Amino acid sequence: MSVGELLEGKRVCICAGAGGVGKTTTSAAIAMGMAARGLKVAVLTIDPAKRLANSLGLPELGNEERQVAPERFAEAGLEMRGELWAMMLDAKRTWDEVIERHASDERTRDAVLNNRIYQELSNAVAGSTEYMAIEKLFEIYHEDRYDLLVLDTPPTRNALEFLEAPERLSRFVDSRSLSFFLKPGRIGMKVIGRGSGLIFSVMKRVTGIDLLKDLSEFFQSFGDMAVGIGERAERVGELLGQRDTTFLLVTSPQRDAIDEAIFFRRRLRDQRLPFGGAIVNRVHEGPESDTDVSDDLEALLGEKLGRKVARNFEDHRRLAAHDRTGVGRLMRELGSEPLIAVPLLDDDVHDIGGLAELGDYLFAGEFVQV
Ligand SMILES: Nc1ncnc2c1ncn2[C@@H]1O[C@H](COP(=O)(O)OP(=O)(O)OP(=O)(O)O)[C@@H](O)[C@H]1O
Ligand SMILES: [Mg+2]
Repeated sequence: MSVGELLEGKRVCICAGAGGVGKTTTSAAIAMGMAARGLKVAVLTIDPAKRLANSLGLPELGNEERQVAPERFAEAGLEMRGELWAMMLDAKRTWDEVIERHASDERTRDAVLNNRIYQELSNAVAGSTEYMAIEKLFEIYHEDRYDLLVLDTPPTRNALEFLEAPERLSRFVDSRSLSFFLKPGRIGMKVIGRGSGLIFSVMKRVTGIDLLKDLSEFFQSFGDMAVGIGERAERVGELLGQRDTTFLLVTSPQRDAIDEAIFFRRRLRDQRLPFGGAIVNRVHEGPESDTDVSDDLEALLGEKLGRKVARNFEDHRRLAAHDRTGVGRLMRELGSEPLIAVPLLDDDVHDIGGLAELGDYLFAGEFVQV
């Protein structure tokens, strides 16, 4: 099975999975492979390793796509028939863009952007990075400039947080607590003023920060936008379930990751979200037989070295057996749904060559080497 087949006719591919399993690397390799096949592809990465960002030609900051220079593929011996674009998602910047879009005038916009509460909130709201990833995806999708968008997802401990992000945001903006502050007459603000006036005024004297002013200003300006943002969050959420969207589940063969992958698969099914297949990354490959080779090795290499190598071999075999169990468990869950295994490579994947090597497994060797 090749990722190329899984993504036939798709315009959005979301690589989801537990933290640290290889989502960012896999997203980049998938995007590159699809571009090599002739499509114009953009990969939206989140916090890529510095060396990977460098090899994709991504600047430190920036919420914009950049084309990866075609020469880079030739250098790595890869025929690039399409175009690969990449961007590093900046959640804070995306939040700012949302505010810019929804503000009724410049004054409101600046009041929110410069507001201390907003600045903290946009960095810290739980799931905010997750939501902003989907928000950016939605925006680029509707600009219609690419054949395919590949979305990397943030390093959440729990991959499900990602699915819940749009709903959580729209709940937040029309939550009782928020509307309490946003009611005409701002009764909420008055209550806060009375109950905690002393604390705020002491704080203002000690720190010089007028938190109360910030709070009331924030809720006043943000309040007018809340409805628009909430409605958009709903539409953004719908993108996840569209027919031309597909989720690829990235996992490692470790037990916890497999448990989470199985859970995630079921959750997609419950929510009727489209599932393309699973990618089990960093699989240890090793011999299946359990014949004891230590005597042979000792005879061949001498006692000391032979024993060392035998021990090494044994470790390897154990890891491989363990990984096979994990992969097997996921396979049983998936039934006839596609699963692609990618071995643990000798080195970290941080350049075009490394991505192409990963791509060989993802695309079942269909890359054309030049
Ligand atoms: N098949 C592989 N063989 C060897 N190294 C790999 C492989 N896949 C990924 N790596 C390396 O593993 C590390 C983690 O990968 P990556 O950053 O893609 O994970 P992630 O799921 O995006 O993590 P996070 O959840 O923190 O965002 C990177 O250093 C990457 O180069
Ligand atoms: Mg990552």
